[in-house]
Amino acid sequence: MGLSFRLVDLYREVLIIETEQPIEAAKLQKTLGGTIKIMQVLESLGRKKGLSPSLVFKSYFDANLLKEQYLTNYSGKIQIGVSYYPMAADLPIRGDNKRMGFALKQILTAAGHSVRLVLPQNDGFSLPSVVVTGEHLLEKGAEFDFLVGAERIYLGKTLTVQNFEDYGRRDYQRPARDMQVGMLPPKVAQIMVNLAMVPAGSQTSLKHAILDPFVGAGTVIQEALIMGHKAVGSDISSKSIENAEKNLAWIKNRYKLPLGRYELLVSDVKDIADNLPKIEIDAVVTEATLGPAYTEPPKPKEIETNFKNLEKIYLAAFTSLKKILGTDKRLVIALPAYRVVEPGAHHPASRAGSHYSFFPGIDKLAALGYDIVNPLPEVVLERFSFLQSTARHSIIYDRKDQFVSREIFIFKTT
Ligand SMILES: C[S@@+](CC[C@H](N)C(=O)[O-])C[C@H]1O[C@@H](n2cnc3c(N)ncnc32)[C@H](O)[C@@H]1O
Repeated sequence: MGLSFRLVDLYREVLIIETEQPIEAAKLQKTLGGTIKIMQVLESLGRKKGLSPSLVFKSYFDANLLKEQYLTNYSGKIQIGVSYYPMAADLPIRGDNKRMGFALKQILTAAGHSVRLVLPQNDGFSLPSVVVTGEHLLEKGAEFDFLVGAERIYLGKTLTVQNFEDYGRRDYQRPARDMQVGMLPPKVAQIMVNLAMVPAGSQTSLKHAILDPFVGAGTVIQEALIMGHKAVGSDISSKSIENAEKNLAWIKNRYKLPLGRYELLVSDVKDIADNLPKIEIDAVVTEATLGPAYTEPPKPKEIETNFKNLEKIYLAAFTSLKKILGTDKRLVIALPAYRVVEPGAHHPASRAGSHYSFFPGIDKLAALGYDIVNPLPEVVLERFSFLQSTARHSIIYDRKDQFVSREIFIFKTT
């Protein structure tokens, strides 16, 4: 999007940035994949140690300020939600969002409004996007977000929430789903497309495209199209190409995408440099073939054999993709990783007490003309120690109940 920003603060669930231009929140929300809410910070107050947010903001609000800065123009009963997001450990916030909510409700009620207060359930701190959407908070009132740090509290209002229903439809209602091959969740596909950093300018040119050479059911292509890119997909299996064809026709109708935005072809990745249509590839974004799906944790021997077989395909892929990409282009790729349970650890599907068995041939791939790009600047990693990227600068994506995890790398051709 060409947006420059300054990182203000970051803590587990929340990133605060400052930009010079306004952000097109609705557009951003549809393309970020992993982002649940976008909020606008309107105020920040210093916090003395021990003071709860409701005490810090005790005399801050009045009815006029609430109406002018936070609430939408809605003539019926106003619906307000209150969410707290911790930005530090050990904060005095338990139960305080209720106190804050009642204080806000009281101010508005005293000014003659009829108000309904929506609070997180079961001592939770923040409202899930489902509740913000379901209760129509953004149309009929506001969601107040208190981002509570050790020394400062940022107060914002929610601008947009993730359209969880739409992401779900794109995952589960596609006409062709292949559980054998496995499919990338659409959100993860969007994140991977973003990591490819294809500049917004080239999206309008039909001569440029993003390539997925292990296209499967077409998730990466589908998300790239929705994000405004042109995309090319190829796969060794004609059945996969048929599936991708069906899914993309469905997506094209559903999202009213213009014609001529995607091409699909059957090709072994090793021959893709010769088979590719005449088109400039800006980046490759792909989930490589992961090997067998497992219903129980694979044995070390199985993992070893799998990696050995995959290495041949990956080496061929990286060789032909280098020819296509030339220099200074990105290849974002998901590879399989396996959670290895340490002896004596509890349930195999739990993350605690386990480490990962990673694809061992990564240096051989890099030697074919690629550098690994660190997804996060070193200074950011040092400052925010909870951020998790691996020692080899990859990012793990998995769910507790899966035996095959995905290890995502950003490569840049040299
Ligand atoms: C894990 S799937 C990709 C799934 C895809 N990301 C999705 O969400 O539907 C991997 C795909 O790689 C394909 N494949 C396996 N070996 C290949 C090769 N040598 N060249 C091209 N494609 C290959 C398989 O047919 C399969 O469709």
